[in-house]
Amino acid sequence: MSANLSAILYLVASVCFIMSLRGLSSPESARSGNTYGIVGMVIAILTTLASGTVLSFEAIIGGILIGGAIGTLIAKKIEMTALPQLVAAFHSLVGLAAVCVAGAAFYSPEAFGIGGMEGITTSALIEMGLGSAIGAITFTGSVVAFMKLQGILGSRPLVFKGQHFLNLAILIGIIYGIVDMTLNGEAFMFWMITIAALVLGFLLILPIGGADMPVIVSMLNSYSGWAACGIGFTLQNNLLIITGALVGASGAILSYIMCKGMNRSIINVILGGFGGGAAQASGGPAVEDDRPVKQGSAEDAGFMMKNAKTVIIVPGYGMAVAQAQHALKEMVDNLKRNGVKVKFAIHPVAGRMPGHMNVLLAEASIPYDDVFELEDINSDFASADVAFVIGANDVTNPAAKTDPTSPIYGMPILDVENAKTVFFVKRSMSPGYAGVQNELFFRDNTMMLFGDAKKMCEQVVKAM
Ligand code: TAP
Repeated sequence: MSANLSAILYLVASVCFIMSLRGLSSPESARSGNTYGIVGMVIAILTTLASGTVLSFEAIIGGILIGGAIGTLIAKKIEMTALPQLVAAFHSLVGLAAVCVAGAAFYSPEAFGIGGMEGITTSALIEMGLGSAIGAITFTGSVVAFMKLQGILGSRPLVFKGQHFLNLAILIGIIYGIVDMTLNGEAFMFWMITIAALVLGFLLILPIGGADMPVIVSMLNSYSGWAACGIGFTLQNNLLIITGALVGASGAILSYIMCKGMNRSIINVILGGFGGGAAQASGGPAVEDDRPVKQGSAEDAGFMMKNAKTVIIVPGYGMAVAQAQHALKEMVDNLKRNGVKVKFAIHPVAGRMPGHMNVLLAEASIPYDDVFELEDINSDFASADVAFVIGANDVTNPAAKTDPTSPIYGMPILDVENAKTVFFVKRSMSPGYAGVQNELFFRDNTMMLFGDAKKMCEQVVKAM
């Protein structure tokens, strides 16, 4: 295939990737976004295979078959709630690939067209140093993020004295190493940069607590994009440069949006060590508190909601765990048939990944028009008869507004307490992800509905 034709096809693939990102920005167009992504990827792979630079088709086809089989298996088996750690695990592979490509290019520059016996070009040495450093940080950082999200490592922040100085010293060492390697082209320095970056990846993520992990995963996503972009320069592959930059930039934008959702600055997240408490994959252990709570039944909830004018439903992580979205839809349909106005309020970090709730609600065919973002619905709670909080906790916790010592202080929350009656559907008095008690459980207008979210919805439907 001529260089011009492959450049045009790479451009077409890049446009598909941009259309894919655009499509994925809304649940309505997400499917077409996925299709664009698949088409772009197929064009990219076929163009690369036909470019005449492939030495062994067997190895590539073998790799695609094995990788494709593993990917298909994981996609079929993975639980929605385990996606964040899966994403972290995948990012680690991108980081590792960047290190491997940089290493391969360093030892066989002629194979990559970046120099020969007389030495590697200066620009390639800079790209290699940066690519390997970013890739190594992404690799170990993502491994730690995976282990924390999977519960292999405790999500408590691991903080020690002088941590930030140590990180800064390593970073300065890496920059010095890249300059030195660029000037002298020594293999020793290449490996020193890589080892230092591997250590830095560990040290950067270890002090970060569970509740900040989503931002970190999205930040590592951005790093993995820049690492791929670095590989693109080394391989002189425009498509990889564009794709890497797209992933890098979108990851950075997502991190920014999530930080805004949690009212935290990205620097604060990196340096903070927030979310250490009892942060766990599914709510922490019960916080000691003997104050009485009002406990209700499915019949109480059914009766009050059926007689309400407006009900606002606040879904959270527990709805995902219980896979209660279909039962919830049935409950909502039932309420609507009785003339009740039902809306959904979605907090930007409800659940365990961006858009988690939107995806589940879309899966249950809940109309997009009934689903509102925090800023568009928060004032409506004051005029709502019932707030039905299903498996959500932190995103409703007023400590975020009132307690400066709380780890979630400053996070915008859904003002459910302004509704006439608030139902909390959850299994126990356990706290949410951030491990802090929710004062709303003890309020006069709150009624606790203890039980699994799916079963509770089914019982409410029966009761209605
Ligand atoms: P959480 O505050 O974690 O509360 C979820 C609640 O669901 C828990 O209190 C738990 O109580 C209940 N629950 C669990 N399984 C249940 C089941 N089968 N049936 C009924 N209830 C169940 O969730 P949230 O309000 O969605 O807030 C999200 C939190 O996660 C925030 O702190 C956020 O910062 C953090 N986070 C967010 C993300 C993103 S990007 N969305 C990613 C990682 C972390 P019981 O155990 O008593 O049932």
